[in-house]
Amino acid sequence: MTIAPMRGTQAAQIAALERETFSLPWDEASVRAELDNPLSLWLVAAEGETVLGYVGSQTAFDDTDILNVCVRPDARRRGIARTLLCALEDHLIRSGTARITLEVRASNEPARALYEGLGYVRVGLRRGYYEKPREDALILQKELVKP
Ligand SMILES: CC(C)(COP(=O)(O)OP(=O)(O)OC[C@H]1O[C@@H](n2cnc3c(N)ncnc32)[C@H](O)[C@@H]1OP(=O)(O)O)[C@@H](O)C(=O)NCCC(=O)NCCS
Repeated sequence: MTIAPMRGTQAAQIAALERETFSLPWDEASVRAELDNPLSLWLVAAEGETVLGYVGSQTAFDDTDILNVCVRPDARRRGIARTLLCALEDHLIRSGTARITLEVRASNEPARALYEGLGYVRVGLRRGYYEKPREDALILQKELVKP
C-alpha cells in the first residue's frame, strides 16, 4: 500500500466512495478542484490503481481542518485510516501547522474511536450541524508537537 498526495486520476474513485459513504458527498469536480487549491492537501492510500482510502484537509494560517476521512468498506479495520491521519500529521508538522480540527457526527462511534485513539480531544459541540439526518457535531482538536 502506498500513501501519497491525491492525483487527478484518483478523483473518480474518491467521488464514488463519497457517494457510497456520505449523505452529502463531494462530487468528482469538487474533489478534482482540490488539486488546484493551494490550501488543500488530500492524501490517498492505494494498492496499485485502487483507492483504499483518503483524507482531505485544508489549512488556514496554522490550523488545519479535516474535511473527510474514508476507507473502502472491504478494507476497514486494517489500520488504513490511522496510517492516513499519521501521514497527514507528518506533512503538517513539517509545514509548520500547529493544530488539526475536525467535526464528527456524535453517533459515529468508529470515527470517534479512531480520533480519540490518536489523541484528539473534544473542544466543542455544534448543535444540529449535520443534515441528512440532522445531528450534532462534536468538534475535536489535536495540537501538533514538533519533534
Ligand atoms: C471511520 C473509518 C474512516 C475508519 O477507517 P479504518 O481504516 O477502518 O480505521 P483503522 O483500521 O485505522 O482503525 C483505527 C482505530 O479506530 C477505531 N475504529 C475503527 N473502526 C472502528 C469500528 N468499526 N468500531 C470501533 N472502533 C473502530 C479503533 O480504535 C481502531 O483501532 P484498532 O483496530 O487497533 O482497534 C471508516 O470506518 C470509514 O470510512 N467510515 C465511514 C466514513 C466516516 O465515518 N468517516 C469519518 C467522518 S468524520
